Amino acid sequence: MGRIFVADDINIGRAAVAIRAGGLVAFPTETVYGLGADVYNPHAVAAIFAAKGRPTFNPLISHIAEPDFLKEYAVADSRALFLAKKFWPAPLTFVLPRKDDNPALDLVCAGLKTITVRCPNHPVALELIRRSGVPIAAPSANRSQSISPTTAQAVFESLGDNVDMILDGGPCAVGVESTIIDLTTPKVVMLRAGGITKEELEEVLGEEIIISDGNPDKPNSPGQLLRHYAPSKKLRINAATPEPDEFFIGFGKDYPNAPLNLSPTGDLREAAANLFAFMRQADSQDKYNKLAMAPIPNNGLGLAINDRIKRAAR
Ligand code: TXA
Ligand code: MG
Repeated sequence: MGRIFVADDINIGRAAVAIRAGGLVAFPTETVYGLGADVYNPHAVAAIFAAKGRPTFNPLISHIAEPDFLKEYAVADSRALFLAKKFWPAPLTFVLPRKDDNPALDLVCAGLKTITVRCPNHPVALELIRRSGVPIAAPSANRSQSISPTTAQAVFESLGDNVDMILDGGPCAVGVESTIIDLTTPKVVMLRAGGITKEELEEVLGEEIIISDGNPDKPNSPGQLLRHYAPSKKLRINAATPEPDEFFIGFGKDYPNAPLNLSPTGDLREAAANLFAFMRQADSQDKYNKLAMAPIPNNGLGLAINDRIKRAAR
């Protein structure tokens, strides 16, 4: 149990240092425990997907400590600001348009043009975010496909040594995940039922909200996830060697001359962290009108990478 630490002042301070250093910290929220990393560090965000064994890059919720920060972080209209003021901190998550094209957030947003934000109602979570000085990206702190953990012990049983620190703040009071609402459409759409009820939301909004018939664990139209980043140039994947007219993105040690290499050491986590940024970079090379990418092993995070590049190579 070496990684479970009581969530006192000193350990929250240590956890904040770990977050700033790119580490993974599991922490309590009022709903379930989250597996947290610095949203602006794609390497740390990639480590979340690796630790969870997630086969695709699902978008992650950014946790913030000050409701006021919402308008700086996302495109928040008056409806979003009103709901934040009425409910936050709370088990209520907003899907909003992304503010700008900050490429550091590409992985957190899984290539979507939306960003997902919540201000959790738990003193440990809030203190950790404040001391980290950055929003914290956090899915539930469990292996992919298993149930969300509501105790530090459950986090340890699910993720073991894949996490740098587990802050123990006792059992979660709410115990089900947050309610997720899509605020990018004229009518509010509930994507996932959770800690705040439909009735509570409708009462405050003064209008009906729509229940999404989509699968809450599969964001809308995953087939379009990378549309925003699909390069304008033709991309050839599983390319063992580049053609002379192709801009080449390597992977692993066999490509010492590649202008870009997702991970010279063949580390899939590093490759995932670099993927979106490198595709943008490759696409902006004026001298080439074709792109090619080395084969990526189809295990671990490689599944997610291959899933994305296949879409990009259509
Ligand atoms: O209570 C909670 O929300 C917990 C705690 C840690 O805050 N977090 C949580 O995160 O449940 P996660 O990743 O396990 O579930 C978030 C869900 C995922 O199914 C994801 O696909 C969906 O929200 N989601 C995130 N961003 C989305 C977006 N932009 N559009 C549609 N679905 C989105
Ligand atoms: Mg989850």
